[in-house]
Amino acid sequence: MRIQRSFFISVISLFILLFSCAKQTEEEEVRIGFSQAMFNDEWRQSMNNAMEVQASLYPNVTLSIANANYNVRQQIAQLKDFITDSIDIIIVSPIQSKPITPIVEEAMNAGIPVLVVDRKTDNQKYTAYVGADNIEVGRNAGKIIVSNVQDSLRVIEIRGLAGSSPAEERSQGFHQILDKFPKIKFVGTIEGDWEKESVNEGLRELLSRTGPVDYVFAHNDRMAKGAWEVARNLGMEGQIKIIGVDGLNGPNGGIQLVKDGVLNSTILYPTGGAEAIKIAVKILKAEVVPTNNILSTTVIDQFNADIMQNQFTKISEQQSLIESQISAIKRQEQLYYSQNNILKIIIIFSVIIFGLAVYSIYSKIAISKKNRQLELINKKITVQRNQIEKIANEVKDSNEAKLNFFTGLSHEFKTPITLIMSSIESLREWDKKKGNKTGFEIELIQNNSNRLLRLINSLLDFRKIEDQKFNVRASKTNIYKFSNNIYKEFKGEAKKRGINFNISSNNEDLDLFIDRNLMDKVYFNLLSNAFKFTPDNGRIDIEIHDNFEESSISIHFKDNGIGIPENELKNVFTPFFKGSNNRKNSSGVGLHLSKQFVELHLGKIEVKSHNGTEFIVTLFKGNTHFNEDQIVVDPEIVDSTLINFSEDITMDDTYIKLDTDSGEERYCILLIEDNRDLSFFLKNKLSVEYDIVLSDGTDGIELAFEHVPDIILCDVNLPVKNGFEICEILKNDLRTSHIPVIILTALGNKESFIKGLQSGADLYLTKPFNYSILTQSIKSLLYNREKLRYYYTNNIHKIDQTQSFGNPEQLFVRQLNQQIKDNLDNAGFSVENLADALNISRVQLYRKVKAMLGISVSDYISNFRLENAKSMLETTDKSIAEIGYSTGFSSPNYFSTAFKSKYGVTPGAYKKSF
Ligand code: FRU
Repeated sequence: MRIQRSFFISVISLFILLFSCAKQTEEEEVRIGFSQAMFNDEWRQSMNNAMEVQASLYPNVTLSIANANYNVRQQIAQLKDFITDSIDIIIVSPIQSKPITPIVEEAMNAGIPVLVVDRKTDNQKYTAYVGADNIEVGRNAGKIIVSNVQDSLRVIEIRGLAGSSPAEERSQGFHQILDKFPKIKFVGTIEGDWEKESVNEGLRELLSRTGPVDYVFAHNDRMAKGAWEVARNLGMEGQIKIIGVDGLNGPNGGIQLVKDGVLNSTILYPTGGAEAIKIAVKILKAEVVPTNNILSTTVIDQFNADIMQNQFTKISEQQSLIESQISAIKRQEQLYYSQNNILKIIIIFSVIIFGLAVYSIYSKIAISKKNRQLELINKKITVQRNQIEKIANEVKDSNEAKLNFFTGLSHEFKTPITLIMSSIESLREWDKKKGNKTGFEIELIQNNSNRLLRLINSLLDFRKIEDQKFNVRASKTNIYKFSNNIYKEFKGEAKKRGINFNISSNNEDLDLFIDRNLMDKVYFNLLSNAFKFTPDNGRIDIEIHDNFEESSISIHFKDNGIGIPENELKNVFTPFFKGSNNRKNSSGVGLHLSKQFVELHLGKIEVKSHNGTEFIVTLFKGNTHFNEDQIVVDPEIVDSTLINFSEDITMDDTYIKLDTDSGEERYCILLIEDNRDLSFFLKNKLSVEYDIVLSDGTDGIELAFEHVPDIILCDVNLPVKNGFEICEILKNDLRTSHIPVIILTALGNKESFIKGLQSGADLYLTKPFNYSILTQSIKSLLYNREKLRYYYTNNIHKIDQTQSFGNPEQLFVRQLNQQIKDNLDNAGFSVENLADALNISRVQLYRKVKAMLGISVSDYISNFRLENAKSMLETTDKSIAEIGYSTGFSSPNYFSTAFKSKYGVTPGAYKKSF
């Protein structure tokens, strides 16, 4: 940061340095304002040109020339502007002296130096004057005339604009000479205005009147030419000698007029343009300059006209050379300046680039240093994070292990409870059959078993909620009826304790979408709590409020019990919370679960405590707040802890009629269960109808292969292999694949159910199961097996022909048929041979075929041979003996006997019937 700042400071200083150097080398800019009397004659143009050329030699000088257009007022205005503009110096060539004098004075007073050129102002209040001596000019003209004086001479003077100093002074000088000669006679004076046209009329009139004169002195060459034209018009041009002033070089200039014989002579009157600029610059530089800067003048006549012309031409050639050199220098200068600027820019950029390069190297070093530090910090953080993660994982694992232990334990509780509850059920049925009243103790055991079961279920629900495994199954429910049913369950308890227990609703027809199982638990929990904390003879109310205008309803559970301290109200739904005034035993998960279940309905539960406790459950009307898959159509109110995933079992007893009392072989059930009590309980109950083979789980598979039972009941948590693995092995083995398997387990979650189905189980019952549901399930599965058996026996050939769809039973029948077919003419092909070919034992083959097809293997082989013989009789011309041998009968006689006993006719008679 510090480096960055100092870098920028250095760059800025460099800029200042470079530009201040540039300023020092340049001189201060000065502006010169020149008010020119007019622009239209060549003398003025030559003056302007000389000024511009001279000014261009000073790079710091800006010259602006304003044209007063022969208008005095305009000239005054121009000078005013220069003053306002605070121009550095004014140059003026006054049109007339008098009117311009005050404004020149004003400029001087304003501190602006004024340089007067060619014509003067009235007083001498200007900084300096540049111009020829006009008196001298007049004198020179006079001297020309007097040098030719003979007897008498007649002269006419043509004056410049009255009021302009050259006109006055030239006239003055002219008279100074001529007035000394009495023989010289002034015929007349013409008042001109410096221009040719101002001469015509007056001179024509004068000459016409007086006749030709000897000399005409015109104050400038333009008027002199005008005089010559007048004389020529009057035919006097050869007689009058004309003298002019200015002596300009060029086709229309005075020198050329002298050379052409138009003028007798001309007095050189230099413009002084270059000198004026030089003096102006000097004044600006505060150098001392003379007030009067008089330019020299001379007479040009036919003797020196050529020389003068040549000299002036040379001068003007040199002038143009200088001009072109100046412009070349200017171009070079421009080039120099632009290159200089480029150089400056390059230097600046180089410095910047160098600076940036240094800065970037510095930054890189700084960044890599910072990076190293950060890496170090990062490593430290990572190590710390890993440690925290490890600790967290350990804590999580230990928590998980504890939870799993308690969950597992809870599951384990279910089997003994199943036993207790089923035994009680049997005892009650027994009492009922005998017409006895159920004993008090039995009812006590049943009530407490139920309570125990609810507690275990609460613990399991808590785990399930934690794992977010609950899915709402909402169905349309009349909330009043639903509440009333639960109300009835608590009515007995209320009566016993003299509690005034009521239910009411302002809309008994109100339907809501609720998960009845979950909401049943909520009601049960809230009412159990109310009964727990309400003293005998207290009051408990269930009130259902339909808030007609609103989209929700509220259910109030009010009691006048001990209540909850105000400051603890916010904690009642926290898991394992126990109120300070709660002396009763409680798990602390009931209210937490209730809240979770209500929230699964997107509802809310609130608590108030004032003269007792009030829980308010608010639920939405309609079903739009549920997802489609959360809505079910009219389910049974089923306690999912009692029956899980077994709702599609056919319960209709009349539909399943298995002939088990016919004295024939009984169905055989293999029970694989490591809980001895449950095992014996089930054996006792089931052995009335079935043959039971018991396995403690260690030898389940072996016993299944050995006995090939008709049904297998299998627990999940078993030693060696679990129930799912056992089921999978049995279902994938040819010997046992046809046997229906019922999984009995305490694991009531969806994943276990799916695992069960994947292992090939036919049914999945969770503990504690209802015994009658188990027996109905067994019957249902056996009935389905009968139907399948019927199908197989009646479709032996079809199964043989149709393609296998991967069904192991179908595959088995196909293999069986193929083996018999391959050995059709082999009379010695025995059941042993067939078992060997199928790679199973003779007994297993017997049991499998018996179980699947309902007949013995030897009968099946015999039937197969006879069916084939029958079709040969129908379709071939072979003899009876031939057919008998080719279908594996050892003699024609044996064939005939067997055929007749099956079909009621001899093979011969059967063939004839075709
Ligand atoms: C040009 C001019 C010159 C003359 C001068 C006097 O405008 O008329 O011919 O010498 O002015 O100021």
